[in-house]
Amino acid sequence: MGALANQDDEEMAGSDNDDHMDEAEEMALMARRTNAGRRKSVSAEGFDPDADDDDDERVIHPKTDGQRERLSKVIADMLIFSSLDTEQTQQVLDAMFERTVSPGEHVIDEGDDGDNFYVIERGNFDIFINDPVTKVPQHKGAYKGSGAFGELALMYNCPRLATIIATDDGSLWGMDRTTFRRIIVKNAARKRKQYEDFLATVPLLSTLTPEERMKVADAMVTKNYEDGDVILRQGDPADYFYIVIEGEVVIRRRGDDPSNPDNEVVLNTYTNGQYFGELALIQNQPRAASAFAQGQCRCAVLDVQAFERLLGPCKELLMRNIPLYEQQLSEIYQDLNMNSE
Ligand code: CMP
Repeated sequence: MGALANQDDEEMAGSDNDDHMDEAEEMALMARRTNAGRRKSVSAEGFDPDADDDDDERVIHPKTDGQRERLSKVIADMLIFSSLDTEQTQQVLDAMFERTVSPGEHVIDEGDDGDNFYVIERGNFDIFINDPVTKVPQHKGAYKGSGAFGELALMYNCPRLATIIATDDGSLWGMDRTTFRRIIVKNAARKRKQYEDFLATVPLLSTLTPEERMKVADAMVTKNYEDGDVILRQGDPADYFYIVIEGEVVIRRRGDDPSNPDNEVVLNTYTNGQYFGELALIQNQPRAASAFAQGQCRCAVLDVQAFERLLGPCKELLMRNIPLYEQQLSEIYQDLNMNSE
């Protein structure tokens, strides 16, 4: 069975037939519709890293060796810190402070000015956003024991966009606004340059405005993989969404052959500009298949909160692949059954 390309890639690949005209019109319509329905959002113009004085006094919160060790562990795997150099990482370790929270405590309230950015060491936190009309808080998701929040108001100089409430006892590491802007926002400016051209070529993102694409670039991080590396594993909880920047990613699934449950079948191979990892995020389910690097490859990665916040306008496009995945699986099943007969 041939590889199934991301549906929208096929749809948007250069073609001058009438179908394509229809598709283009449909895309434009969808873009207008999603733009019209979108909640009032922050302006990417608020992002001005050069407006901050690099000579600001460094913030230092003294820590015990134990605290520093715990903090180092917490930030080690966090996407937002992954592109910092050693000196910047030291500054982050110096500047962060510990904050413990109790059940029901509001860490952030929507509409407030942004003071700190927070990284979760322990505990669960609910995310609420007020309905724009009724003002009633709507539950939008949760952080379960890990993750980070509070970056948006600091990055875009806007009021808080969501309310974050601790649901049990927990522990956070905070970073003040000045340090965040000096280190993280400066780095994000470099990332924008790095991703701008690439993201403009990704068919999935074609319905986004340039400003929305900028925000995707701000939230993205590059991950490099060697041949055979597992990028995501079948059955694991879903945390990230991936776009291939360079190289090839092969998707394999096991367990569909009753006579040989460990047998893995290749479902798809993805390359530059194609995406994967969206299904489990959309369906809120464990990974349905595993993804492996085929040769060296590089992916741009978004975490689940950024995926939901930024790619909402692309959801219709993302959902179009679901029936195709299902059809592909039933075809594989049929093939397996026929072969075992
Ligand atoms: P900020 O606006 O500074 O404060 C609230 C934080 O909630 C926000 O940054 C994000 O880090 C986080 N958040 C999580 N999900 C969402 C969402 N859907 N929309 C906006 N903010 C969100």
